Formats: sequence, C-alpha cells, structure tokens
Amino acid sequence: MTLKPNGAAYEGLKDELLLTKDEIAAKVAELGAQITRDYEGKDLVVICILKGAVVFFVDLIRKIDLPLTMDFMSISSYGSATKSSGVVRILKDLDKPINGKDVLVVEDIVDSGMTLSFLRDNLISRGAASLKIATLLDKPDRRKVPLHVDYCGFVIPDEFVVGYGLDYAEQYRNLPDIGVLRPEIYTK
Ligand code: IMP
Ligand code: MG
Repeated sequence: MTLKPNGAAYEGLKDELLLTKDEIAAKVAELGAQITRDYEGKDLVVICILKGAVVFFVDLIRKIDLPLTMDFMSISSYGSATKSSGVVRILKDLDKPINGKDVLVVEDIVDSGMTLSFLRDNLISRGAASLKIATLLDKPDRRKVPLHVDYCGFVIPDEFVVGYGLDYAEQYRNLPDIGVLRPEIYTK
C-alpha cells in the first residue's frame, strides 16, 4: 500500500492510494504495446472521450508505435453527482468522419456502461470499419447494460475514484495518482 502525497491537491482523498503513477505508467505501456500489435497495417483513429480520458489518452497514444490520427468527443451522462443520470448527450462531436476507419475509443472508466454503449452504437452507425474500446478503469459491479471492453487497465471495486483525469465536480483531474474520494465529500 502507498500513502497519498501531502500536497493540497490530494485533500479529500482517503490516505491510501488506489493506483500509483508508477503502476499506471506500467499498465499504460502494456496496453500501448498490445494495441501496437493489434492495429498493425490498419487505418487507426484514436478517439479521446473528454474530459476524463484526456490524461490516459495522451500517455497511451505515445505508447502506440504506429501511424494514427486522433479526434475528440465530449459526451455527458454525469452532472457533478456520482451517479449516472442515464441521459447521454453529445456536447462536442468528432471533427472528421470515421467511415472506413479502425476506431479505438479511449475512456477513463466504465461504470454503468451506458455512456459507452450509446457511443458504440452511434459510432458504428457512422460506418467505422471496426470499433474497439480501451478503458483505464472498469467497475463491473455497477454495470446496468452489457458492454464488451477490449482493452482494460484495471478492474476496481465499487468506490468513487479521482485523479489521473477522473474528477469529482471537476476537481482532482490533475493528480498523477488515483485515489478514493472520502464519502463525506459527496454525501454532505
Ligand atoms: P457510465 O455511463 O455509468 O459507464 O459512466 C461513465 C462515466 O462516469 C465516466 O466517463 C466518468 O466520467 C464517470 N464516472 C464513473 N465512475 C466514476 C468514478 O469513480 N470517478 C469519477 N468519474 C466516474
Ligand atoms: Mg467521463
């Protein structure tokens, strides 16, 4: 177990980190190597789901040793609360069409699965040649709709986590590590 650093950015987290930056970096390198093997010779476009996936995305693409393009999409199923509303809205769409492309969607965490299940159908309907999902974290205990994840960093227990891009009320995205938010932060 690793204790959190003393910095003010970590206030509100439990003392013990869930995943350290070194553990995350090792996993991201592993996923990048696997993706590099799987996409050789393909027309790869990697899509970052803003904002939560952005830190994972910038690390992951630099571990993919292939020609690729990137695009960004922002969708919302969460307000600032810790539970999914079930309503998915596109706040920012892709810049370029993806028909004929081999699409890899990069997400921070799969929880109920509703966001990515909506997104998968939406992107497939645009004529992608293939579509796979990479997520840093997966909370399978909370799944409400079935969803196949192709690349998963870590399966984690049902706790609200922040850091490395993941937020609570837009805070904590800048932490290099991932920790568990103290429940009193979101129940008060
Ligand atoms: P889903 O549609 O319920 O799978 O929601 C996935 C989205 O919920 C993620 O992209 C996150 O933005 C958010 N989310 C789910 N669990 C957590 C968490 O533990 N910490 C931070 N955000 C979370
Ligand atoms: Mg998100």
